[in-house]
Amino acid sequence: MTGLVTLVGAGPGDAGLLTLRGLRSLEQADVIVADRLGARAVLEQLAAEGFVLDAEVIDVGKLPGHHRVPQDAINELLVELAGAGRRVVRLKGGDPFVFGRGREEQLFCEAAGIRVEVVPGVTSAVSVPAVAGIPLTHRGVSTSFTVVSAHDQIDGLPGGADHTVVLLMGVGTLAHSAHALATGPRGADCPVAIVEDGYGPGERVTIGTLGTIAQLAAARQVRSPAVVVVGEVVRLSPHAEGILPASAIAEAVALVTEPDAASAALEPAAPVAATSVAHARPRSRLAAALDAGLAVDTGLVSAIDSTLAPVGEGTPARGIRPSLSALLSRKATTS
Ligand SMILES: C[S@@+](CC[C@H](N)C(=O)[O-])C[C@H]1O[C@@H](n2cnc3c(N)ncnc32)[C@H](O)[C@@H]1O
Repeated sequence: MTGLVTLVGAGPGDAGLLTLRGLRSLEQADVIVADRLGARAVLEQLAAEGFVLDAEVIDVGKLPGHHRVPQDAINELLVELAGAGRRVVRLKGGDPFVFGRGREEQLFCEAAGIRVEVVPGVTSAVSVPAVAGIPLTHRGVSTSFTVVSAHDQIDGLPGGADHTVVLLMGVGTLAHSAHALATGPRGADCPVAIVEDGYGPGERVTIGTLGTIAQLAAARQVRSPAVVVVGEVVRLSPHAEGILPASAIAEAVALVTEPDAASAALEPAAPVAATSVAHARPRSRLAAALDAGLAVDTGLVSAIDSTLAPVGEGTPARGIRPSLSALLSRKATTS
């Protein structure tokens, strides 16, 4: 059997985060088999930008009865379409190989004699925290991260609050996950952020701690899709400002950087002693000033609406970012 299936990562749902290679694959496709989460939003944004794709689009995110097409049926569909000689793009949310069942689809197609190419995508595990201003690593704060599905066992995860944990599909089991992580070295005060519908119309950020997050999420009726970030890096989010109680780490570095933290932040980095367990290593004055500014001891843990400010101020909640938009227009008019 001949035929080609290209597995394309659509990113988290913003066409600006589709790769150029992914876009070219979409242009060349005869048929696009699309997931609902991420993929459909990207196709809609491309269409709204006037970018015409000739391919037939098959939505496997839901059937008329609102049930998702079973994985076996998707596999069969890909083989059938490619076997008939059509150029098939399988458009999947985020990255196809991050909890995306991409490898299963690849193996099934190859076993049927169909060639498969893979175009990686921008995973929600990294990009959705970024909309809330959360880097998964930051020098002196976190040097490693783990991405885990909430369906998996999280009790044995490595590290403390300086090892960031990213939970996908984590809303339904949030209370269990938070409890399990809080009873480990991270403790109940470890910061947590939930970012719902990143890059979508329902984008919202909820900030709390492992001890409070389940209650906050219930009170705010947090829904899927959402990415949960656990660790000290959450303090770096503008959304956390004034929300999280000061950590021992932040208090220690605040003392060191007083009285003029702002000017210290501009000075060249120099080692500063820190007294915390999580950061038992020299810290730069820049990082110290950063924490001193972010960690305000309100004695209160509450939640805030993202409303896209201050993180997304001046940028559209959805749609293509100006640079890609311009690129797409050029492409659309020249092709
Ligand atoms: C089946 S996993 C697929 C992950 C995907 N392959 C990726 O790399 O992003 C689906 C989960 O990804 C996360 N997710 C994907 N897109 C998201 C978005 N735009 N906003 C928030 N969470 C998202 C949610 O945790 C959701 O439950």
